[in-house]
This record gives sequence, structure tokens and C-alpha cells, in this order.
Amino acid sequence: MDPPRFFKENREKYGDCFTFILLGKKTTVYVGPKGNDFILNGKIRDVCAEDIYTVLTTPVFGKDVVYDCPNAKLMEQKKFMKIALTTEAFRSYVPIISDEVTSYFKRTPDFKAQSGVVNICPKMAQITIFTASHALQGKEVRDKFDETLADLYHDLDMGFSPINFMLHWAPLPWNNRRDHAQRTVAKIYMDTIKDRRERGETGAQDMMYHLMNSTYKNGVQVPDHEIAHMMIALLMAGQHSSSSTSAWIMLRLASRPDIMEELYQEQVKALGADLPPLTYEDLSKLPLNQAIVKETLRLHAPIHSIMRAVKQPMPVPGTKYVIPTNHVLLAAPGVSASDSQYFPQPDLWEPHRWEKESPLAPSIVRNGQEEEDDGEKIDYGYGLVSKGAASPYLPFGAGRHRCIGEQFANVQLQTIVAMTVRLFKFRNVDGSNNVIGTDYASLFSRPLEPANIYWERRDKE
Ligand code: HEM
Repeated sequence: MDPPRFFKENREKYGDCFTFILLGKKTTVYVGPKGNDFILNGKIRDVCAEDIYTVLTTPVFGKDVVYDCPNAKLMEQKKFMKIALTTEAFRSYVPIISDEVTSYFKRTPDFKAQSGVVNICPKMAQITIFTASHALQGKEVRDKFDETLADLYHDLDMGFSPINFMLHWAPLPWNNRRDHAQRTVAKIYMDTIKDRRERGETGAQDMMYHLMNSTYKNGVQVPDHEIAHMMIALLMAGQHSSSSTSAWIMLRLASRPDIMEELYQEQVKALGADLPPLTYEDLSKLPLNQAIVKETLRLHAPIHSIMRAVKQPMPVPGTKYVIPTNHVLLAAPGVSASDSQYFPQPDLWEPHRWEKESPLAPSIVRNGQEEEDDGEKIDYGYGLVSKGAASPYLPFGAGRHRCIGEQFANVQLQTIVAMTVRLFKFRNVDGSNNVIGTDYASLFSRPLEPANIYWERRDKE
């Protein structure tokens, strides 16, 4: 029910590395920066992600992508997707995302009055899917979310329920719906690709267009069904993480109205009192807005457990342990991200701690080594990433499976926060500074619902 607490309690009893039984499987947890590095930066001959995740992801994403292919192919696919995420692309995303946010709040009945109370989680889930689909997949696909795609993605999502880890093969009712949704969504994308090819479109910027023009090292052009499946994977990969994070941000702001006001004043000061349309460049002028995302991910990283199969016995350096091949390895970077050794007053949500001069600044900020342990980088085939993963703060993972959506998520979340702050003031319904608990029952953690907040329009009509 509460994996981080379980990991911390056992760390106190047994040290950073210990084994427990999870769903009948011996699972070895290794926490702390060394554990993060040992697992996330493990060699391909030692650790394997696809053996763990494929039962869950292949029915949802489809064949021949991500974990339903050899790791070398995934590295090429990540490279194609990463190349499409250019500064130029991000520049075009900020206006798209801000318009989606403004128009969402304008048309949604729950936000029609001057003030009210709302369960923020489903609202943030919708804003996330509208903004991500529009930015990454274009207007044509975005418009289909108002018609068929929203329900189909909901059915796909059911495939990610934890019970599917054990019963992925079973004829469970939601699995039939999941399979139907997968086929239907893939066909929608493939038809769109076919149309675009027939039109002989040139010079577009979006992810689908980029994949349509990508070729594997062996000279084979990426097949249409793989493009369609990658489009599903991209949207699903970001949906849970980003929507949970944005819901946590709103809840944290409701618990600290003073910080929400500071965010508003930061924009007024940096961009001018008339608050012009937000641009990609503006985001870098808003350090508190950036820190909100960072600090929220520190305490609420949505992926609390990252797992790998062990392919050959792995000695743990400096200990007597050798992890055998019948164990699963589990990394939990959230444990070090809330450890007082690295983050003073770790349980306090304080975005100002990311300023170098703050008395609460973590060691990685004071030493100028945020997210990088030694500055050494390696190219897994999809761009340079930090070689070592021995950092206490890794909400986006590390090593060959590191998130390619980090920059997109940052742009998306910072834009959503900046636009929301322009429109509303939030507070807790009871006026307190309390924050509600976490729901760990799904694979991605998120706020317990109903996660109600009181909102009030900034401009009284
Ligand atoms: C991988 C976190 C948003 C696409 C990962 C991993 C983490 C992570 C921890 C590593 C998983 C592992 O090692 O097994 C997050 C968080 C996000 C976020 C916290 C938002 C706040 C996104 C978005 C996209 C995305 C928006 C797509 C645009 C991916 C992909 C992988 C990945 C493709 C690679 C999987 C692999 O190589 O095995 N993410 N992610 N993520 N993420 Fe994200």
C-alpha cells in the first residue's frame, strides 16, 4: 500500500540492499545513489527491462516496439523520437499547450462560476492528454480526442492495471476491450499515415511525420504499424506521469497559496503586467515556475519502482551479496530523493530549495551537479545521457532506459502551471496547509481521490 515507506523501514533494518517477495517473486531492492546506479546503469548482459514489462506493454502499445523488440531496436526507436523533440519543436509547443489550457478552463462547466470546489485529478488527466496529443501528434489527432480517441485510450489504460502483471493472458473483460482499443487506435494512426503519404506532405515538424521519414541502421524504413504503435507508446508513457505530477502541483499550490501568489508575481515581474502570450523563451525567465516542477517530482515521482530481470549473477560491489538470476531487481530513486542525507528537511515541499543560496539547498545544487554524478556522459544511441546514475535525484530514471520525454514533460508542466496561475487562486477546502495521501494501488502513484481544491478566479467578472 505504501512502497516508499516499506523501502525506508526495511532499509533501516537491513541496509540499502534487501530482498522481499513481490507477487511470488524474490525481489531485491537496492536504494540510495549506489543502488540507483547499480540497477539503472546495469549492463545489457546483466539486466533486462523487457522481460519484466513486455507482458503489460505489448498488448497496450502493440507489436515490434519498445519492449516487444530487442533492446538495440528500442535504442534506435528512442533516437528517432528524441530527434523530433528539437528546440524548434518545443518553441511551437508552448503556444499550443497554453491555448489548450485556456480553452479547457473556458469551456469546462466545472470552471464556469467565479469560484468552486473541484476534484483536480480528472481535470489534470484531460488537460494532459489534450496538450500532449495536440503538441506531439498534431491537430488532426487532437480533434479526434473530442470524438472517439478519449474513450479508446481509457480502455487501453485499463491494460495497465496491476492485476494485468499476473493475469495478462486471462480473458478478463477489460482485456478484450483493451485489445479492441489497441487495434482501433492503431488503425486510426495508420490511416492518418497513409493519407499523409498519399498527399505527399513535406516539411512538417510533428513526431508522426518525423517517424514516417526515419530509417533503421539496416536500411529498413520504419513500418507504418511500428509508427502507429510508437505513437500510442509515447502518449501512454507521458500520460500517467505528467497528469499525476500536474495534479500534485495543483494540490501543493492549494496547500501553499503564498507560493501560488509568488508564481503570479514572478510572471508579472519577468514578462510584464499585461502578461503577454507565453513563449518557450519565457519559461527560462521563470525560475520559481521551474522549481515547482522539480520539487514536486522530488516528493511525488510517479514511477516509484523501476524493475529489471537479472540475466546473470550480479555481485554487489563492496558487499558479500551476489544477486541470483531468479531475482527481480527493483530501484526506487524516490527513497534517496527524500533522504535527509541529501535533502535538508526532506519531507518539506519547498520549491525555493532549488536556489543555490537556500539553506535547504540539496548537496547536488550546492555542488552544481544536479542529476549528474560526475559529468561523464555516454551515448546509448539516442543522445548523450549521464553515464553514472549515482545521483540521489532521478525522477526521469537513468542509463539506457532513461526518459526521452523529460524536456517535453518540463515544457508541458511549466506551461500548464504558468497558465493556471494566470487564471486562478487555489487553496485547500478547509484552508489548511495539509496535503492528501498517495494512491499506490496502480503502477504509477497519484493523489488519493477525491483530491478536492477550492478555486477562485483571479479576475472577478
Ligand atoms: C522512461 C519518468 C514523461 C516517454 C522513463 C523512466 C522514468 C520516466 C523514471 C525510466 C523507466 C525505466 O527505467 O524503466 C517520467 C516522468 C515523466 C515522464 C516522471 C513526467 C513527469 C514522459 C513523457 C514521455 C515519456 C511526456 C513522452 C513524450 C518515455 C519513454 C521512456 C521513458 C519513451 C523510455 C522507456 C525505456 O527506454 O525503457 N520515464 N516520464 N516520458 N519515458 Fe518518461
